[in-house]
Amino acid sequence: MRCRTIEHPETLKPETFFMSDIFEKALQAQTAIAAEAPATAEALEVFRIQYLGSKGLLKSLMGEMANVSNERKRDYGQLMNTLKQEAEAKFQSLKVTFEAQAQSVDSLALDLTAPGEPLALGSRHPIAVTMNRIVEIFARMGFSVADGPEIEDDWHNFTAMNTPEDHPARDMQDTFYVVDAPGMLLRTHTSPVQARVMQRREPPIRIIAPGRVYRNETISTRSHCQFHQVEGLYIDEGVSFADLKQTLYYFAKEMFGTTKIRLRPSFFPFTEPSAEMDIWLGTETEKNSRLTKGTGWLEILGCGMVDPDVLEMCGIDSKKYSGFAFGMGIERQALRLYEIGDIRLLFENDVRFLRQFEAAI
Ligand code: PHE
Repeated sequence: MRCRTIEHPETLKPETFFMSDIFEKALQAQTAIAAEAPATAEALEVFRIQYLGSKGLLKSLMGEMANVSNERKRDYGQLMNTLKQEAEAKFQSLKVTFEAQAQSVDSLALDLTAPGEPLALGSRHPIAVTMNRIVEIFARMGFSVADGPEIEDDWHNFTAMNTPEDHPARDMQDTFYVVDAPGMLLRTHTSPVQARVMQRREPPIRIIAPGRVYRNETISTRSHCQFHQVEGLYIDEGVSFADLKQTLYYFAKEMFGTTKIRLRPSFFPFTEPSAEMDIWLGTETEKNSRLTKGTGWLEILGCGMVDPDVLEMCGIDSKKYSGFAFGMGIERQALRLYEIGDIRLLFENDVRFLRQFEAAI
C-alpha cells in the first residue's frame, strides 16, 4: 500500500525547524518500513516489536502529536495512519507466508519410512467364538445358518411351538413384553426361527440358528436376563431319532472331545419324544467333578423329534415329513471353555476382560 501524497515538510508552509523535524522522522520511518524485508518468522517478530509494538516506533511517533501545531495536526494524523496501515499490511502478509511455510516444512519433516502406529486390534467376544465353533461343526454336516428377529411375536415364540396361551410351560419362560405393541415380546428361545423357516421353505430343511434370547430372570453369577442359544432343525422324509442321536454325538465329539453322550427323557411342548443331552466329562479332575456335581455328566442341550402338530401349524405335511430339533445355551459352554467364573463378565464389555480373547478366533 502506498502512502497518500503527503507533501514533504520543506514544501509545506513555513514551520519551525522542530516541527519539520517531526515530519522528517515520520517520513524516515516510512522509508525504513518500506525497506524492511524480514526473512524469517523470528525476524518478523523483531519487525513487529520495533514498529508496531507497544513501545515501538509508531507509538512514539504518535506521541509527538502533542508537539505538532494545530494546523498541521490533521496532516500528521493522516501520515501516522498511512504508516500504521503500511506496517500492518506488511506484517500480516509476511505472517501468512511464514505460517504456510511452517506447515509445509512440517509435512516435509514427516518420515514416510517410520513404522506406523500399531492399529488397536479388537478381538472376538468369547460368546461369538463359541457360537462360531458350534456353527462351524454343524456346517460340516450340511446345516446352513438361519436368522430370526429378537423382538418376536407371541405366535412364533409360543403358540407355533405348541405352547398356547394357557399352557403352564409359558411360566418357565417369562420374558419382556413390548408395551406399545401388544403380542410382541423379546424371544425366550431361538425355537421361533424353526417356525419361521418351516413357513417359508419346503423340506428338506437343515438349519442352524444362533442368536440372542431373553428371559425375565434374576441376574446372578450363573444366569442373566439375556443370553445366547443355537437352534438346530432337520426336516426331511424318514428322519428318525437315530439321526438325531448320531448328529448330536458327532457334535459332542467335535466340540468337547467327549466320546460318551447320554440322552435323558425330558419334556418340551414342541418335541415328542424329548430329551436332554449330557456329555461325559468324568470325575477325575477336581474341576470336572465340581462341574458335574460328582456325576461325571454335564447337561448341554435340549432336543427331540419335532411334534407333528408343530409341523402342521407351520404348513408342513406331517404324514410325509418328520424331523428333529435341538437347542443349546452358549454362555455356560463359554464359561466352561474359558474358565470364566461369572456370566455377568460376558455382558459388561470391560476391555480388560475382552482383551484376553485376542488370540481366540
Ligand atoms: N427351546 C428350548 C429351550 O430353550 C430348547 C429346545 C430346542 C428343546 C429345540 C428341544 C428342541 O429350552
